Amino acid sequence: MKDLKKILVTGGAGFIGVNLIKLILRDYPDYHVINFDALTYAGNLVSLADVENNPRYTFIKGDVANREAVNNAIEGCWGVLHLAAESHVDRSILDAAPFLNTNVIGTMTILDAMRKHNLKRYVQVSTDEVYGALKPDDPEFSETNRLLPNSPYSASKAGADLLVRSYFKTYDLPVIITRCSNNYGPYQFPEKLIPLLISNALQDKPIPVYGDGCQIRDWLYVEDHCRALMTVFEKGMPGEIYNIGGNNEIMNLDLVKTLLRQIGKPESLIESVKDRPGHDRRYAINSSRIKNELGWEPQYKLEDAMQKTVAWYLENDDWIDSVISGDYMEYYNKQYGE
Ligand code: NAD
Ligand code: TYD
Repeated sequence: MKDLKKILVTGGAGFIGVNLIKLILRDYPDYHVINFDALTYAGNLVSLADVENNPRYTFIKGDVANREAVNNAIEGCWGVLHLAAESHVDRSILDAAPFLNTNVIGTMTILDAMRKHNLKRYVQVSTDEVYGALKPDDPEFSETNRLLPNSPYSASKAGADLLVRSYFKTYDLPVIITRCSNNYGPYQFPEKLIPLLISNALQDKPIPVYGDGCQIRDWLYVEDHCRALMTVFEKGMPGEIYNIGGNNEIMNLDLVKTLLRQIGKPESLIESVKDRPGHDRRYAINSSRIKNELGWEPQYKLEDAMQKTVAWYLENDDWIDSVISGDYMEYYNKQYGE
């Protein structure tokens, strides 16, 4: 067997991590993936049951803020795709502490280990939310926009990005930052808008829409995002930042109505609730750098990929059930016998 490059994917049991690992195992045969994940409420190994016996896949349970665990996992790796994070804005409003610990201290710990073990590649998976909010007529975010985060979540991600930049400038580490817009697709935890909507609608429960529902997000299909991450990982320029967007701006209320129509449920399920404090009005991403310099393009159109996503959740109601019941949390003990 030829020599495989070992890569560490942190947060590989989360929504984007699961999709990324499946893509690497399917389409990138030169890598052995080590999935390093603490299995918080957002980590779900049931989603990876179909690949857990793949000889190019290893799972390690561990916390990115734990120096010893990170050093042990990273030894012998060629590169890192760092996705592990606390990722839900509403939770960060209730308690910022886990966000600072995982998103900032965890990033520092990975960077230090990368330096110690002389790794060749690092991708920091960040977010467009670090740029703050746009007004209706503002141009889309570009990589040179100022960082103006408005939630504890986005502030912790911006802090991590600045740390990554400093390790490039100070230690010449081969690090790259990506900033993507809102992802959607299979295996997303049903606290985020789209899976929450689908899960509630299937149970005829109300769909909470924050404030006037006129906030705008730029939706990106998760598989397109994962391909962009691999493009940056393989071809990106160290020290650079690449925005990744779907070029699909849509108002929350319009998105909710479209999805309800696709599922065949009435708009009467929509329930207007109190707005999120500090709620960003609009995000939109200019992805021309990654397109022009690295040749990445999204493959999916919004309508098609939304339909594909709805179909996936309808076909995989047992996956949603195991998340809602909490059964998915037992999977690690059952399979890995702790
Ligand atoms: P997620 O919340 O679904 O998954 C996060 C994963 O990280 C989980 O498996 C969790 O167990 C793991 N994790 C959390 N704390 C950890 C710790 N201390 N040590 C090790 N593992 C830990 O998140 P996601 O939606 O898959 O997002 C992945 C990355 O992409 C995050 O960095 C997030 O900020 C970024 N991002 C996500 C979106 C989106 O729309 N989902 C948009 C922009 C950026
Ligand atoms: P979310 O999926 O939490 O992503 P983010 O806050 O990172 O953009 O929310 C997407 C949009 O949907 C955001 O404007 C908040 C809104 N939203 C609701 O209106 N109701 C909900 O129940 C949730 C979870 C989100």
